[in-house]
Amino acid sequence: MRLYTAVLFVLTLLCACNNTTKEAQEGDEYLTKGKEVIQHTLNKLSGELKQAMRQGGVRQAVPYCNANALPITQQIAQKYGAQVRRTSIRNRNAKNAPTAHEKLIIQQYAQQLTAGKKLKPMVSQLPNGNTMFNAPILLRASCLNCHGTVGQHITETDYQVIQSLYPNDKAIGYKVAELRGIWSVTFEKK
Ligand code: HEC
Repeated sequence: MRLYTAVLFVLTLLCACNNTTKEAQEGDEYLTKGKEVIQHTLNKLSGELKQAMRQGGVRQAVPYCNANALPITQQIAQKYGAQVRRTSIRNRNAKNAPTAHEKLIIQQYAQQLTAGKKLKPMVSQLPNGNTMFNAPILLRASCLNCHGTVGQHITETDYQVIQSLYPNDKAIGYKVAELRGIWSVTFEKK
């Protein structure tokens, strides 16, 4: 009987290990896929944003973003069979407000940043069985023209353009290296 219990115990351990390895592998798979999706979205968004900025500055780039940011992410979503979006607690577009789960992740990253930790992409399971990939978005100097301080980085006239399109804008006053928001990629349950 004692042997039986011992065998059972070892078996349970083995199964538990197997399970964790399987979960870890799936996590790795989503980590790789998630990074690919955001890299692709980022390349497309930033390439087109830079071009619009070169052509007509903030005044032209903001309406461009307004019309194209969401369609671009939707195109990518179709290609990868995943939902991709950027979300932030201090958001510009009301459609980019975080869900309760995303809000927790943003708060977690914010705490890590305050603690001086390196922020890493992460994968979590949603209650409905879907898998979510997240990665932090930090503010860079090149973002200040549109997300910095009005009167210092953003001219009054440029801010009027921003406000005319986003009357409830909360995405100003950011500083370099601050947490601007997160990438959020949702993979449906297989
Ligand atoms: C030309 C102005 C401009 C620049 C430069 C710019 N943004 Fe934005 N940003 C916008 C606009 C406009 C939106 C709203 C897009 C939409 O309608 O979905 C936005 C939205 C976002 C969002 C989505 C959440 C929200 O607030 O709605 C994030 C995250 C973001 N920007 C981060 C950045 C980062 C990081 C940089 C620098 C690498 C940057 N932005 C540079 C204009 C800009």
